[in-house]
This record gives sequence, C-alpha cells and structure tokens, in this order.
Amino acid sequence: MEALKEIVTPLLKWYDGHARVLPWREEPSPYRVWVSEIMLQQTRVEAVKPYFERFIKELPDIRALAEAPEDRLMKLWEGLGYYNRVRNMQKAAKELTGEYGGEMPADFERILKLPGIGSYTAGAIASIAFGIPRPAVDGNVLRVLSRVQKSYEDIMKQSVRKSFEEQVRAVIPKDRAGDFNQSLIELGAIVCVPNGAPKCGECPLKEQCRARAGGVELELPKKTPPKKRRIEERTILVLLSDNKAALKKRPPKGLLAGLYELPNLEGRYESQEMLNYVKELGLSPIRIQPLPEAKHIFSHIEWHMAGYAVKIEEPEEEPEGFFFVEKAQMEEKYSIPAAFGAYTEYFKHRF
Ligand code: ADE
Repeated sequence: MEALKEIVTPLLKWYDGHARVLPWREEPSPYRVWVSEIMLQQTRVEAVKPYFERFIKELPDIRALAEAPEDRLMKLWEGLGYYNRVRNMQKAAKELTGEYGGEMPADFERILKLPGIGSYTAGAIASIAFGIPRPAVDGNVLRVLSRVQKSYEDIMKQSVRKSFEEQVRAVIPKDRAGDFNQSLIELGAIVCVPNGAPKCGECPLKEQCRARAGGVELELPKKTPPKKRRIEERTILVLLSDNKAALKKRPPKGLLAGLYELPNLEGRYESQEMLNYVKELGLSPIRIQPLPEAKHIFSHIEWHMAGYAVKIEEPEEEPEGFFFVEKAQMEEKYSIPAAFGAYTEYFKHRF
C-alpha cells in the first residue's frame, strides 16, 4: 500500500480553514477530549453538544466523575444509550484519582489500559490533549483512507484497522498530531460522508484520491454486514396509582445493567394474563388499557413490545423489587432508558 505522506499537508491546510468550532476543541483538556470522544462514539456531533456541556458543567473534572453518585451519572447519560460506557468512564476516573491525583497521565500506553478505552480513544486523547503522535482511527478515518487508497479490504477486520493505524502512525506530523487526526475525522464527517454521495468537489484530497480517480467512491469502504439482531418479545406495564408509577431496578449485569425500568415480562401477554400477574404481585387492579406496540433497537437485540396501562389501588405494600415513585419526581430523579420511551409518556395518563 502506498504511503500516505502526500495527504498530510493538504489535509492540515483544509482543517485550518474548515474545522467546525466545537466545545471540546476550544479547550482540549484530556478530560474534555475523553468525555467528548466517548459521547461521539454513539451520537452525532450536533446531538452531543448539549449533553457535553451539561456533563462538564456538573462533573467538571476527573475527580468529580469518580465521585458522582450512580443515579446522577445515569441521569446525565440518559438519552445517549450504551450506559456501560459511562460506567467504565467512572471506573477509569477512580483509577486516575487513586493513582494520579485525578489527572490523566501523558502516556498513551497507560491511557490505553483504562477501562472502556481502546486504541481509538487512547489515540484521540493522547494526540489531541497531549500532542503525542499516535493515530486515532475511527469509522470516519477508515472510510477516508479506504477511499483515498482505493482499498477493498474489510474495515470490520481488526487486522485491517491495525494496518490503517500503522500507516497513519508512519506519517503523523509530530508538531500537529491532534490536528492531523481530527482533520481525518472531520473530513470523514463533513466531506467524505457515509450514506449518500461524498462531496468530492470540496475535498482537499481530490487529487490524491484513488477511489475518485476510478469512479468507485460509492463502493468503498467494504464492510461485512453486521450479524442479525435477536428479536425479543416483551410486555411492558405502566402501573399507575393516583399519583405514583411503578419502577424496578434492572440486575447489575447484562443489558441496561442497574438502570431503572418499567415492570415488564418476557413474552407477549393478553389483558387478562396481565391482570392476573398484577394480582399475583399482591396489587389491586382497577382497570387495564392496551397501549400501542413499540420497538426498540439495541446493538445486538431488538425488543418488540406490547404494553398495558393498569390503574391500581394505592398499594399498601410494595411488591418485592418494585417501588412506587411520585410521578412528579420521576423525570427529575430517575433515568429510564430510551427503550421504554414509548411507554413512559403514559405516566401522565389519566384513565
Ligand atoms: N467524531 C469523533 N471524534 C470527533 C471529534 N474529535 N470531532 C468531531 N467529530 C468527531
């Protein structure tokens, strides 16, 4: 594969004139770069901005992240999904607080060992915050490089990613490592875009791009399609008394670990079966109403959901594992994953 040397100068020049002004770029401290990169792994830049600002305001440094109560942390992440990412960040923050007084060390290998940090994120923090010349190759960069080099190699393969990382490492400029990595990411995000035609007319690498020369930019990059998701049927309960609604806490391991959820059962049930279930819990149902079906897509699973709102008498005792929360407090205090979003709106329901 040809050396990437010739892309460095045009890319940096383009970046100087076209980089978007983004909150984490203005003051690229290790903590801010870290938080932004983890958020950006799952969400578009525009959507990340308000989450980023709120997170940094409430937890301004690594020590504050280490000490944040779990429920608060989940609430700050609510809507971003992949909650394990922020749990791992907190674990890492605790390590950093114990070992380095709450600072990120300027050491790529040590950063890479932190929970939840892989070679991309470690490279991004090392280069953007510390100027350490390490590559940060994410999906954007893989797309750009596949096209520039007209590479038909499968970018889902670890070996292919490693090879791209090595190629970037060989040319990364020592005095502008962070800008160079970000210029590749930025080009992938706003010019060499996925889904739909890349804007080759605006591209600083149009002279160097072999995919464009061959007219094959839309065929690249090559990716093996992801595995099919497993489908799970679930029945969700919106259990309401006069001014309270029922929540449960999910188990500490697995999907949506440790988060709050609406009561639900695996499988699909009819109204009568759900009424029986509510009675078995020791509660007194007054009426039941079927709710619209809903779907939620996780990375490996799809939930296909049926739902019921059940009005109950004020419970004398909470069934084991359930707790009834004042509806007025729900929004403010409890982070309920987006998977239940189609049903949480019925908390306000009067019927
Ligand atoms: N996507 C991932 N990392 C990014 C960054 N640092 N800037 C803009 N978009 C990104």
